[in-house]
Formats: sequence, structure tokens, C-alpha cells
Amino acid sequence: MKFSGHPDRIQGSMAGKIYLETFGCQMNVLDGDLILSRMTGQGYVPTENRDEADVILFNTCSVRLHAEERALSHAGTLQQLKKRRPELVIGVVGCMAQNRQDEIFRLLPHVQLVVGPRKMGAIPRLVEEVRGTPHRRIAVEDFDDEFIDGGDAVQIRATRFQAYVKAMEGCDMSCAFCIVPTTRGNEVSRPPEKIADEVRRLVDQGTVEITLLGQTINSYGKGIKPTVDLGGLLRRVHEVPGLRRIRFITSHPSFVRPSLVEAMRDLPKVCKYLHLPPQSGSDRILKAMRRGYTAEKYLRIIDTLRESVAGIEVAADWIVGFPGETEQDFQESVRLLERIRFQNSYVFKYSPRPGTDAAALADDVSEEEKKRRNQVLLDAQDRISREKNLARIGQIVEILVEGPSKTNPNRQTGRMDTHQIVHFDAGQDLRGRFVSVEILSATPHSLLARMA
Ligand code: SAH
Ligand code: F3S
Repeated sequence: MKFSGHPDRIQGSMAGKIYLETFGCQMNVLDGDLILSRMTGQGYVPTENRDEADVILFNTCSVRLHAEERALSHAGTLQQLKKRRPELVIGVVGCMAQNRQDEIFRLLPHVQLVVGPRKMGAIPRLVEEVRGTPHRRIAVEDFDDEFIDGGDAVQIRATRFQAYVKAMEGCDMSCAFCIVPTTRGNEVSRPPEKIADEVRRLVDQGTVEITLLGQTINSYGKGIKPTVDLGGLLRRVHEVPGLRRIRFITSHPSFVRPSLVEAMRDLPKVCKYLHLPPQSGSDRILKAMRRGYTAEKYLRIIDTLRESVAGIEVAADWIVGFPGETEQDFQESVRLLERIRFQNSYVFKYSPRPGTDAAALADDVSEEEKKRRNQVLLDAQDRISREKNLARIGQIVEILVEGPSKTNPNRQTGRMDTHQIVHFDAGQDLRGRFVSVEILSATPHSLLARMA
């Protein structure tokens, strides 16, 4: 590969090899691709081997304490390597960089760079500033939006046929438990034409499925003139020839507008799958969480969706052990889960985050009890998922194949429009292809099928 002629290349860049480790959500995965893309633009070559890297970056998550602890411990193991190779640059970037700021330098003295989510466009320059010096740089202070345009990440993705596309950054909500508005800042939407252009470029390079990303993707459009919402964005993207599937995550129950429901109903490329976290089924807890809806309102939203969008499946996030959550409150969550019969649920044990409103409340549900509630919800969901999956036996469905299964190379794995994982035997690697399969059997987490 030749990089010398890159127009944005920083003068005197030393380049070399870069190792990047990403923690957390899909937005972080996309940010990781954006970082690598900018670094390769400077002549860097990605490596999977820390020992041969010239630059090591940890792209971090702060949503729960556990995620921060993992990143700190991974980065902590590099102290010896840095001693042996003082020229190695180690950086902590992303949400934890924003949350912990210069505390990271105290915890990890071998780290030279701390860069928050909205400053990540500056990473190549900051790396060059510290390389070969003992200096440190921290970039967290003001948010700027230079990083949000990510079209050039196209070059670096592991899979060509699927891609994440940033539709917006940040979050304007104030859920009492959540640190994301602090780490990622206010909501900023990208203009729809930029998003559509990026999708067009991706499709030219072989992408057939895109996932639009945003913290509250269905509030998309704030500040955009002329006015547009997620329904309108989906219509724009739907027009891109060659694109086959459009996904979007994550939605907030307060913004399930008629235009979104109609887009899901009318646009065949839009997958009939909605990730719509309720977080709790107790009105008391929902209020304390400041989620802005009741369990009854949430139920009505799902009813409307199911009436309008044939075959739609919904997925949930739950938090168990929020401050003050009683057994009765928790049972309300179980009840909502049972009434809705979600396709799948992600369950999280409440973790107090600094600076959030809930952090001022006593974290009064014991770890043991959080674990138990977590398991009860997962067990209830597993039973429902199994029943729903069993009901699919005999159906012929179309899946997008993602590649060989991790445990059996003769078996291919793909996903339905509604996001279920499907395994089937095939003599060849069919990744990136759409195939029709007949469902033969089911577990709570996947379906087994044969080519139809
Ligand atoms: N809207 C975001 C939500 C980010 S956090 C999105 O795009 O996914 C993802 C999930 O983590 C939330 O839905 C919530 O269920 C969980 N979560 C957030 N803060 C948490 C905390 N302090 N403790 C436990 N779980 C939390
Ligand atoms: Fe967090 Fe609530 Fe926004 S969960 S990302 S504050 S919608």
C-alpha cells in the first residue's frame, strides 16, 4: 500500500503499526473503525499484535463501572511493555477518557494520550505530538464535531457487506442512571444527504445491509433544515439502489412517531425489528429513572406497532436493582416482559455512574439480589424466546449470511430480517449472500435450518 501522497497526512508523521482495542457498544465499534481509518490515512498499518505496535489505543466504554474496570486492567498490563519500549505510545480514548480525564494519567502512568469521543478526529495529530517524547496530551475539554463524518471508515471495516453508519451523536435525554450524555455530549444529527451519500459509497463497495446508529436514533433530525425525522431519513436511505436491508438502533419509547411506524410498515428494506428499551415495568421506577413514560404507555406503543407493522419483533434493555427497586417493582418488569413477549432482552445490573442523578441515591439493592433479578428476567426471556422460535419451525425465511459458525466451519450463520440468528449446513462460505432456508429446530438463542 502507498500512503505517501495522502493529502491530509501530517508532515513528518513517523507512522508505524497501530493496535486498537474497542470496548462497548456499536457506536464504539464504528468509532474504532473511524480511528483506524484516520490512522491508516497517516500511513499506519493496523496490527493484532501489541508487541509489534508503535501505538496502542484503548477505545473505551463508561456505561457501567465493570466496562471501565476491564479497560483499565487491559491498559494496566502494558506497563512492562512501555518500560521495555519507551517510544511506544499508549492512549485511552472514548467515553472513559471523557469521564475520568486526567485521573487516567494517575491510574496509568504509562498512558500518554487521553481523548474524549468528540475529539477523536484529533488523534493522529496528538499521536505525532507525543511520539518519541515523554509528553502527555489530553483532549476532552470542548466538544467539536469533526469526527462525526465518517465516510472514509469504509476502507477499514472487517466485513464489506454490513456497515454501521452514524446518523447522530450524543444524547439530549437525562435518564437518571445514564452517563452517556456526559461522555458523548449533546445530540447532533448529520444532514440526511451526507448520510445518504455515505450509504451510496458503501453500497458501491459491496455493502447490502446498513445499521444507522444513534443513542436515541428515533429523535433524529434536531437542528436539520428542512425538517426531517427518522421516518424521512429511512425514506431517503431506502432510495439507494443496491441496498437490501436497513437497521437502526437504539430507539427511545418517547419518539415512536407515526412517520416511523409508517416507514417501517411501507419500506421493504427497513427491517421489522425495533430495539426499544423499556428499562423497567414499574411506573414508580420509570419515574425515578426519568424515562418519560409509564408501563401502560409503553404497552400501547407496542400495540400500535404490532397493529401496523406485520411481523415486527421488539427487543428490550432492562436495568435491575435501580435504587429503591422493591421486589414488587421488579415483578412489574417481569410482568411487562411477559405481556410484551419480546424477541430478546438485554439485562443489566444497575451500576451507579458518577455525575448522574441516580448516583446521589443509595445503591440499596444488594449485588446478590441484582444477580438474582437479572437471572429471573433472563430465564423468563429464554422461555419466551424458545416458544417464539419453536413456532417458526417449518417456515421458509430469507437470511443474510454472515459467515461460518464459530464452532463448526461447515455450518454457516446468518440473520433474519427480524434479527434471529440462523445456522445451516453449507458446503461453501456464503457470507454476504441472501439465502432462503427452512427452519428445522430452535433454541432460545438461535434457529437451525437447511437451505430451501
Ligand atoms: N440509548 C443508548 C443507551 C446506552 S446505554 C443506546 O444507544 O443503546 C445501553 C443500555 O445500558 C441502556 O439501555 C441501559 O439498559 C443500560 N445502562 C445504562 N446505564 C446503566 C447503568 N448505570 N447501570 C446499568 N445499566 C445501564
Ligand atoms: Fe442514556 Fe437515556 Fe440517552 S439511556 S443514552 S440518557 S436516552
